[in-house]
Amino acid sequence: MPNRPRIAIAGSLNMDLAVSMQRMPRQGETVKGEQFHAVPGGKGANQALACARLGADAALIGAVGNDAFGSMLKEQMDANNVRSDAVAIIQDVPTGIAAILHADRDNSIVIVEGANGRCTPGWIKRNAELIRQAQVLLVQLEIPLESVREALQIARDSGVLTVLNPAPYVELPDDLLRLANYITPNETEFECLTGAVYGTEEELEAGMRQWRMGGPTLLVTRGGKGVSFLKDGSLHTVKAPQVEVVDTTGAGDCFNGAFCVAIASGLDLAEAVAFGVKAASLSVTKFGAQAGMPALEEVHAR
Ligand code: RIB
Repeated sequence: MPNRPRIAIAGSLNMDLAVSMQRMPRQGETVKGEQFHAVPGGKGANQALACARLGADAALIGAVGNDAFGSMLKEQMDANNVRSDAVAIIQDVPTGIAAILHADRDNSIVIVEGANGRCTPGWIKRNAELIRQAQVLLVQLEIPLESVREALQIARDSGVLTVLNPAPYVELPDDLLRLANYITPNETEFECLTGAVYGTEEELEAGMRQWRMGGPTLLVTRGGKGVSFLKDGSLHTVKAPQVEVVDTTGAGDCFNGAFCVAIASGLDLAEAVAFGVKAASLSVTKFGAQAGMPALEEVHAR
């Protein structure tokens, strides 16, 4: 990477409460878990940490509660060179949490937003300078939608590139979508965005072609299959390398962070996607959303 990329991330911080088990319980069933871990997470924090590990100057705008989880999450950001001055500590609400069931190389997640819900448009505005100073703004959907819009608007008004990771999916108004230069749904989120189901590669290609021609550049993240985008009107997929998967939590966040670092460093679309895919494939080889975020040297060595 030629220069030190500057990325602003507006998003969530959660304590991930993760239970590993042999298989997911069916509705109404109790199964025995094997392990329990409380580890730092939240899409905003994961993405910020991914950027910082890859050598970027990463600044996170968000909010935690005034409690033990909140302190641990802020410390984790500081220890990993993520600028956390714009992570507010809110008095009367707990830090956000994610309850994660982890089985069979996959997971299911329930989030309780807590203080993430207090990352308001006003707080984003107060920290607008961090966005204006960045080359790329990265946002997801675990803070209020109006705050996401505010961050995107500030970025667009200042010529900062914007990446919208529409996760977890909520319906997105057109005017908000227009503020994004890039949008990075996974396959399920893309189906929600378009209201269609894609059973084959051909159907996915047709769906991607039809979706908002002239809108944000679309990158569909596809887990172990890699990441797809349109190149000269045809579906192009950067395949994920085969790795020993330990935990997929945060793999999408790693891709998003790495992609932002790459475009801020001047790589073209295909190169930036390839860089993101490599980074994400390394991230799944360790347990925990943040523990597996690779350093720049590890990605180059792959
Ligand atoms: O993308 C993974 C993240 O989603 C987890 O860290 C969890 O906190 C949820 O926000």
